Amino acid sequence: MTAIRPTPRAGVLDIDAYVPGKSSAPGVARVFKLSSNESPLGPSPAAIAAYNEAGKHLEDYPDGSASELRDAIGRVFGLDPDRIVCGAGSDDLLNLLARAYLSDGDEAIHTTHGFLVYPIATMGAGATPVVAPETDYTADVDAILKRVTPKTKMVFLANPNNPTGTYVPFDQVKRLHKGLRPQVLLVIDAAYAEYVRRNDYEAGIELVATSENVVMTRTFSKIHGLAGLRLGWMYGPAHVIDAINRIRGPFNVNLPAIAAGIAAIEDSAHQERSREHNSRWLPWLTEEIGKLGLKVTPSVANFVLIHFSEQNGRTATDANAFLMKRGLILRQVGAYKLPNALRMSVGTEEANRLVVKALAEFLRKAA
Ligand SMILES: Cc1ncc(COP(=O)(O)O)c(C=O)c1O
Repeated sequence: MTAIRPTPRAGVLDIDAYVPGKSSAPGVARVFKLSSNESPLGPSPAAIAAYNEAGKHLEDYPDGSASELRDAIGRVFGLDPDRIVCGAGSDDLLNLLARAYLSDGDEAIHTTHGFLVYPIATMGAGATPVVAPETDYTADVDAILKRVTPKTKMVFLANPNNPTGTYVPFDQVKRLHKGLRPQVLLVIDAAYAEYVRRNDYEAGIELVATSENVVMTRTFSKIHGLAGLRLGWMYGPAHVIDAINRIRGPFNVNLPAIAAGIAAIEDSAHQERSREHNSRWLPWLTEEIGKLGLKVTPSVANFVLIHFSEQNGRTATDANAFLMKRGLILRQVGAYKLPNALRMSVGTEEANRLVVKALAEFLRKAA
């Protein structure tokens, strides 16, 4: 007999819960976590100092509107702080957007290998995720536009995308925006924007500034090395910011996160060091792993997607097991419809060299 008990709204129990990157390898003393695209350089020392200072005042509620943090972000990017809202990670903001703008029967589009939080947020709001195919592991504007129906309320675009590392040039993003009805909200998730070094890339600020149906989300989890604090922000039209401010938790960003976030965003030298590190090791990894005969999707972010053979003994699962035994933790991406690939964050020099060496050994052994 089925017990009579509370039931979640339709769709909730169809959600596959998000599985974070692993952080430990059984039986291995020293591990290199390369599974969640965290910063190998860690946070700015100024951010750590601000965090420690804030730790002396944990009895106080934070400023619910995070106004000093929004002011600091506004100064750095030249934006109106009133059009910024902060969240407990950009995940928080993506979910709030879904809750505010989607309801039962609505559709939200994301791409085949798009970030998994999009379908989770969509289904959590009772709406239906619609998947647009990609071309060469890259979001395809025409394919997205083809999937727009009268029910479409939102389009999620990770630019660059996780876990592929590919990006959509700004003229294509503008074309996507032009093809959407003004009632459709285009969510540009620019979590990895700081790493991109391409002249034809724009994180989304210009589109947000010049339209009424585009928002851009950003995070402190990647270049700022503050993933553990859970901090993100969004820039959007005033009417969207107003809606999100009505439904967000009144203190959704905690006190140490606000303090560390201000110090981090103001430490441009630290950001530059992280960018430089990435600019050195991203091409190195791509080239060295490529030389081993493995395909690497060209990435503009702080990780690479490595493709493996389907042959027994040489698959991504085999490689993952081999690397795990050596304390090298990469990310299996089967949930992203990439069962034969592994995603690797750009790590420290030591970690990067160890992975290349281990992959060479793996392939030799499997030969
Ligand atoms: C594309 C993308 N968007 C958003 C996020 C979420 O970041 P946050 O830590 O700010 O919630 C991630 C984290 O991996 C990501 O890859």
